[in-house]
Amino acid sequence: MTSNYDLAWLRSGSLSAERMAAIQPLSAYLHHIVTAGEVTSGLFRTAVQELKTGIAALTGQQPTIANEAAKGRCLAVGTLESMPELERLLSANEVSGLGEEGYIIRSITGENEDYLLIAGGTEKGLLYGVFHFLRLLQTGSLPAKLDLVEAPKYQLRMVNQWDNMDGSIERGYAGHSIFYQDNKIVSDLSRVREYARLLASVGINGIAINNVNVHEVETKLITPALLPDVARVAEVFREYGVRLYLSVNYAAPIELGDLSTADPLDPSVQEWWKQKTADVYRHIADFGGFLVKADSENRPGPFSYGRDHADGANMLAEALEPYGGLVLWRCFVYDCHQDWRDRKTDRARAAYDHFKPLDGRFKENVILQIKNGPMDFQVKEPVSPLFGAMKQTNQMLEFQITQEYTGQQRHVCYLIPQWKEVLEFDTLCNGKGSKVKDIVAGQVHPYKYSGITAVSSVGDDFNWTGHYLAQSNLYGYGRLLWNPELSAEAIAEEWTGMTFGLDRDVVDTILGILMDSWPTYENYTAPLGVGWMVVPHYHYGPDVDGYEYSKWGTYHFADRDGIGVDRTKATGTGYSHQYVGANAELYDSLDSCPDELLLFFHHVPYTHVLKSGKTVIQHIYDTHFAGVEQVEQWLVRWDALESKVDPQRFAHVKERLLEQLESAKHWRDVINTYFYRKSGIPDEQNRVIY
Ligand code: GCU
Repeated sequence: MTSNYDLAWLRSGSLSAERMAAIQPLSAYLHHIVTAGEVTSGLFRTAVQELKTGIAALTGQQPTIANEAAKGRCLAVGTLESMPELERLLSANEVSGLGEEGYIIRSITGENEDYLLIAGGTEKGLLYGVFHFLRLLQTGSLPAKLDLVEAPKYQLRMVNQWDNMDGSIERGYAGHSIFYQDNKIVSDLSRVREYARLLASVGINGIAINNVNVHEVETKLITPALLPDVARVAEVFREYGVRLYLSVNYAAPIELGDLSTADPLDPSVQEWWKQKTADVYRHIADFGGFLVKADSENRPGPFSYGRDHADGANMLAEALEPYGGLVLWRCFVYDCHQDWRDRKTDRARAAYDHFKPLDGRFKENVILQIKNGPMDFQVKEPVSPLFGAMKQTNQMLEFQITQEYTGQQRHVCYLIPQWKEVLEFDTLCNGKGSKVKDIVAGQVHPYKYSGITAVSSVGDDFNWTGHYLAQSNLYGYGRLLWNPELSAEAIAEEWTGMTFGLDRDVVDTILGILMDSWPTYENYTAPLGVGWMVVPHYHYGPDVDGYEYSKWGTYHFADRDGIGVDRTKATGTGYSHQYVGANAELYDSLDSCPDELLLFFHHVPYTHVLKSGKTVIQHIYDTHFAGVEQVEQWLVRWDALESKVDPQRFAHVKERLLEQLESAKHWRDVINTYFYRKSGIPDEQNRVIY
């Protein structure tokens, strides 16, 4: 087990006098760890080891460990099962609230007792409790008297690796895969172990370890030739409470040379998957299940056999059912060859149109995995109307931590505010108060399985995420899934304090940059929710007409008279009416549609006046100039930290900010020039537009 205590946000840093003072009242308890029960199982061992190394790294004192009853000042750790005294110490509600993954951290004082308790509902809860305790220690925020009870909001808190076995990562911006090299799983899994540790430290409990686009070699991951290696990876994650899933190729029975069909209703296909699933569970008894991208962007699926997605998913679900495994079936299904002359077909409509009619037909162990928006992780798009639209079908939400469309980890773009907006969206699907955050927790419709997943951002770069500041998205993602009520600022402040220390100037500067970064990125890129002005395929840098004139079929319809996609009911694609009640009206009407999504829902002339009072064209100019100015200010603020941040990280962030500035200027100039030439309308402020 690693004892490295300078791993991303798990850092000892320098023990400032301020932090030592904060820890002082509790330091007497940290010398001695008392475990309830022998530390035999993997997770318990991990929890105790993390606690020990964490305390040692953060305070400089090595705690002793003993299996005995708590006596004297100490840190007592265990679980509901291993600590019978918890029945006396906790209320019945507290006990039942802990569930499997919750924990309690409490100062216990009485006549004959005076100790700190960290207890989990199970060993997994204990591990999360330990990380919480260490976080308090690391950020100097341990209160003199502790009394915390926590449990995660979401059942499934996952990441999806888009890693390929040749070592590349689809949409990866932080180097190569830490899992694969030369079409093999790497033999040295120490980096994978560190990743497991990082994930557990923020409460992630599931991982799909290969790209949803499952190519030839990866198709074999479910075969006995590769399963022993997959099992090695599963073991590493198991020690940290993270369950392993695999993406599978729908056409695997054919591609592995066994059958001539992948028809889900064909008994030989059904039997084939049952055999394969049995093989998987023989190697990995706690395997999570299959993640599937089918009939999407030219991937195979049930459509080839005239079957629908319920047929397809259920066939796999049946194979997994005896083992408690899940099918995570992606809803990213759309026609990627739409013709520009066809103004009725609409990519935004597709997921809802395909899946909503299937409500009630999926087996209980299928979960539909739905991207946050109806398109594809754009800097700004509305929330997918599919959330909550299916009452009898489990749903989970998919975010993208990797910054495919949001600056590719070369630009700072702190995405927690974006994700919070999605989670807070009230779908109205079950009346007022049917928010996405509750739907994907199974609290609006009684889903058996639900949760949140996201495309991961890590690679083998020394700093994990390409851009140091992009670590905040991975960290924040986990924290948000644990508790979506945390504010984006609170999460950013926590991360900054852990990663860069507690100096007020440093924290304020980084916090300021992070909190401004998403709106800034939006400012200098695609305006008013229209999206898609990026270089096709590559998705970095501006190309206003790139997708407009490609066969891929994703349009913004900008011409000399106006811009935007008419998705209204009367004259457009009708997408607006996939929303419920007042939401449908809100988006459908030009009068009420919020400015920020105006061009997603409406095609308007450049002279259209926004609610802000500006015309569309003036808004485009102003935001593009403002975005660049913002990045210029960040550079000034960052420079002021030179003496307070270590040279390596200082230089790294500075270099990235300089690149961001150049790129932002490029965006500004390309976009402003394009729309100036299209519209012929000059900037009111006469700034330089080429
Ligand atoms: C986007 C992305 C692809 C990815 C796809 C998906 O289109 O650009 O690389 O495969 O999403 O989510 O399946």
